[in-house]
Amino acid sequence: MRIPIVAGNWKMNTTAASSAELCDGIRKGVDGISGVEKVVCPPFPFLFIARDRLKGSSVKVGAQNVHWAEKGAYTGAVSYSMLVEVVEYVIIGHSERRAYHGDTDETVNRRVAAALAAGLKPILCVGERESEREAGRTEEVLLRQVRIGLQRIQVPEGFAIAYEPVWAIGTGKAATGPMANETIGLIRAEVARLSGAVAQSVRILYGGSVTPDNVAEFARQPEIDGSLVGGASLNADSFISLVRQTAEAAAAKP
Ligand code: PGA
Repeated sequence: MRIPIVAGNWKMNTTAASSAELCDGIRKGVDGISGVEKVVCPPFPFLFIARDRLKGSSVKVGAQNVHWAEKGAYTGAVSYSMLVEVVEYVIIGHSERRAYHGDTDETVNRRVAAALAAGLKPILCVGERESEREAGRTEEVLLRQVRIGLQRIQVPEGFAIAYEPVWAIGTGKAATGPMANETIGLIRAEVARLSGAVAQSVRILYGGSVTPDNVAEFARQPEIDGSLVGGASLNADSFISLVRQTAEAAAAKP
């Protein structure tokens, strides 16, 4: 059975004080909930705060990006060797990095390879844009992102991928459970084609306007192994509800 992940992507939000408060609130609310991995991904300057506040709890800390080089003249970048001291997870290839910061399938691949080699756990993000969906290119785009994103990589057991249709991110227009389930099934089939049996252990999350009101619809789908959440992860009660409902749905799966 795959253990689902609920990961909060705080994006460029929070302050030092509010990130500490959010960690405290989340910790109190989710520590008793088992059967789901909980991850928060604060902005870089607050990673140490999150690590300290969550020490000894069941909540893990992730970063929102990582560079593929160990060190050097890369102004503004953060390397895997720095992150490995602070976090367990790292989001890679988020559509906002692809759209506004020049990430490509190739650079995403380099980041994933470097993160894995360092012992970090990547959450590899893929997703089609609205124009690509309308042009009937969803499958082609996603399979390319998966294929190049994972090229020359030995996918480890339990690896995490997030399917985030770009048109659903921050728009309030979530996919439907069955639609996301079907698409995630295609992604899993591609991972199986590339990497074999390990695909059955790969956690594939849905992301895009997930809230406490719709999370159960996603969490109960057979192919969906949790969610990557932006807006609704910035409030402790809301994040706790996402974790609780995901755990309940997982427990009810055959
Ligand atoms: P959202 O963002 O939940 O605010 O739509 C999801 C994401 O970008 O990871």
